[in-house]
Amino acid sequence: MSAETQSHLPKVLVVVQNPQHQEFFEATLSPYFSLSLYRDIDQAMEESAGNPGQVLIIDQNGRRDRNCERFLEHSERLKENGPGLIATAGKDILFDIRKEDLKVPSLFLNWPLAAKPLLDGISQIIGKKAEFVWRELPEKIGKPLTLTVEEYQGISDAIASGEPIDCNAAADSCGPLMDAVGNGGHHDLLKAVQSHHNYTYVHSMRVATLLTLFGHGLGMKGDDLLVLSTGGLIHDVGKLVTPEQILDKPGKLTEEEWPVMRDHVTRSSQLLGDATDVTKGALIIAGQHHEKIDGSGYPKGLKGAELNELARMSVIVDIFGALTDARSYKPPFPQEKAFGILESMQTQIDQNLLKVFRAIFEPGSEIESKVA
Ligand SMILES: [Fe+2]
Ligand SMILES: [Fe+2]
Repeated sequence: MSAETQSHLPKVLVVVQNPQHQEFFEATLSPYFSLSLYRDIDQAMEESAGNPGQVLIIDQNGRRDRNCERFLEHSERLKENGPGLIATAGKDILFDIRKEDLKVPSLFLNWPLAAKPLLDGISQIIGKKAEFVWRELPEKIGKPLTLTVEEYQGISDAIASGEPIDCNAAADSCGPLMDAVGNGGHHDLLKAVQSHHNYTYVHSMRVATLLTLFGHGLGMKGDDLLVLSTGGLIHDVGKLVTPEQILDKPGKLTEEEWPVMRDHVTRSSQLLGDATDVTKGALIIAGQHHEKIDGSGYPKGLKGAELNELARMSVIVDIFGALTDARSYKPPFPQEKAFGILESMQTQIDQNLLKVFRAIFEPGSEIESKVA
């Protein structure tokens, strides 16, 4: 029915016959996902063989819908390599498939369907699928991912219920991450984490990994490295209270939206300031990772000697991490392109520190030589 769109986006298949429903799925999902539409499940599975996507939506057409029954057979064959299921049906229609029979993450939704529960449901299913795959990875890579995603969920829950963030627990979750980076596991971590769909977690985990790597490059050890890992993981917690329509906006932010987005830094500082166990270093990383040495950054416009090494490292890593990651509006940039952009920011970024960071990725560097 429609060609796939951008390949860097997670793939979502939709089996739908109702024209209004099809229109809703297209309008809601196409900004965020590579969307493929089909009339029946067999066509969907046949045409997507080899890359069956992350999530399959079956819009149930009437009380007895063979598409859901057929999905059971397909998912039995594909197992964890198959897509998770979202089944949608009319208000009074019972689903003719039982969740217990499915071996993949699933969600049932009734019409009338709103965009948010659908988008949230897709995110949850992609996240669950990623976490399942992580549990099957070698422990040195799987454990840091599993522990940090659990910790990030704990931080989200604490913020939602108005409790202080447990920074010691965040630091504990970073131990295996430090070990993995010390053993050359950074490439695997940076790649594997991208299969999750909680963007703030993904970005934070990537910043934690890159900051730890940067610390290694500068010869840091022990507690100094732990400050970098933990600070990276919690540096953007303020984004957990940023309105989703701004945080996840697929296009450019408006003039009115930018201040709300930038406010995440102040909110991070407040949230972490309420914790009794936050380190000074982590507070600096959270509060100053958008400051630039020429004073053009935010929130305070600090400049020059007002920004210490931690602040200067964190801005490099924050930008590098964002550039080399996929967002709904852009594919991940290759490392070389990201370094080129950072090098063009002559007056904003500490170019000497940038050289150290870049050298870590050179084939002969100490840490790159540990990569199997
Ligand atoms: Fe930030
Ligand atoms: Fe960030």
